[in-house]
Amino acid sequence: MEKELIKKIKNKKLKIGILGLGYVGLPLAELFLKKNFSVIGFDISSKKIKNFKKGIFEIEDIDSDFLYEKIKENKFILTNDYLKLRYADAIFICVPTPVTKERVPDLSYVINASETVRKVLRKGHVIILKSTTFPETTEDIVLKILEGKKLKVGRDFYLGYVPERVNPGDKKFTIEKIPVVLSGVTEKCKKIIKEIYKEIVSYVHTVSSPKVAEMTKLYENIFRNVNIALANQMALLCDKMGINFWEVIEAAKTKPFGFMAFYPGPGVGGHCIPVDPYYLSFKAKEYDIEIDFITLAAKVNDEMPYYVVDRVFHILIKEKIFPMDAKILVMGVSFKKDISDIRNSPAIKIIKLLKQKVKKIEYIDPFVPEIEDLKMKSLKYKKEILKNFDLILLLTDHSAFPYEEIMKNSKIIFDTRGVFKKKNKKIYRLGGGEIDF
Ligand SMILES: NC(=O)c1ccc[n+]([C@@H]2O[C@H](COP(=O)([O-])OP(=O)(O)OC[C@H]3O[C@@H](n4cnc5c(N)ncnc54)[C@H](O)[C@@H]3O)[C@@H](O)[C@H]2O)c1
Repeated sequence: MEKELIKKIKNKKLKIGILGLGYVGLPLAELFLKKNFSVIGFDISSKKIKNFKKGIFEIEDIDSDFLYEKIKENKFILTNDYLKLRYADAIFICVPTPVTKERVPDLSYVINASETVRKVLRKGHVIILKSTTFPETTEDIVLKILEGKKLKVGRDFYLGYVPERVNPGDKKFTIEKIPVVLSGVTEKCKKIIKEIYKEIVSYVHTVSSPKVAEMTKLYENIFRNVNIALANQMALLCDKMGINFWEVIEAAKTKPFGFMAFYPGPGVGGHCIPVDPYYLSFKAKEYDIEIDFITLAAKVNDEMPYYVVDRVFHILIKEKIFPMDAKILVMGVSFKKDISDIRNSPAIKIIKLLKQKVKKIEYIDPFVPEIEDLKMKSLKYKKEILKNFDLILLLTDHSAFPYEEIMKNSKIIFDTRGVFKKKNKKIYRLGGGEIDF
């Protein structure tokens, strides 16, 4: 069975199944297709499947024409019938792992997906969990669902955890070029999963167990969360001390070792960075450990939208604009530049907080035509509209914004991303050291 699988991998005859076609699943499907594998894509969202079949993929970095061609060639089969997954030899689980309102990990998607896989599981299947989650999920949750009386892991089917490192919007480090950390429940599982990955990426680093791979992913993301929190707290202090923190970062960056630049901002967003500290703290409690340092960092970042709102009011008052009369234009609402993802975006929270308190709030984002939740549509950028607003609140530093023009045509700007470098009396910056009240 093992030899047969390896032969299929090498001959590109291995049929790939992807469960969950989002920011992780779809680029993975594309990569396998580019390497000449055929792919069965399964998603519970029938709207998504319908759109994909029409060639509408709604994720940047995706080669839509290529995917559409593969659909027409029957190399990329899209379905919301899970039974079709039984034709796949390897199934990748790429479903969400959010937290609840109380910030408790919500593993219901992983559990549902594993139950779906169990219904089609057969001898020779290779199952790979990709969703970001706390250590022991693969072996304590997924494996327990999959392994029944009949099928045994490492003997009848193969299971492993391979965290995803895709960085949406990143043109340089595409998933093909990002090294992969890989694990298997048994040595045989690891060996087979490694053979699959060797066909699609240039570097594979294997680790001894799924829990090491799960912890690696959380460590990487928490590393970012903690360092961003440090930058945010430094920015808050610098604001009060009259020190431009952006200048401090540029200076610190000249140190050729032991320093890595992280930047302050209106908060962290997306599906990983704001969520992962809570995944780890939840698990740590099982071991009677409070990971205070990590949860404190998450709290610092979670509070940033409130700080931005406070600063908006301070700026308005300083400029002698009564907040209830203020018209605000938010520029950029996605959680980071040049992408359309607004999940957990601090901009959404900031708009919600400001909406009831100012006269008018609108937004412009070339990547986000509408925010359903807030019933808002993006305005079209024209320099003429800038003058209609008392304050331009820059929350996401998209490359497409014409910053020079924005500076010339706006009344006041509050820049939370350090885009406007030069001191200018109509520009306020987060971390700019400009609080003088
Ligand atoms: N977005 C990123 O940049 C990124 C990067 C690395 C890791 N991750 C992790 O990868 C996982 C997936 O994230 P994403 O951003 O791709 O999420 P997503 O919401 O973009 O996509 C998930 C997809 O899974 C589908 N789905 C949910 N339950 C399903 C089920 N039972 N069966 C079939 N389909 C189902 C949803 O309809 C959706 O299309 C998460 O754990 C996330 O933390 C995300």
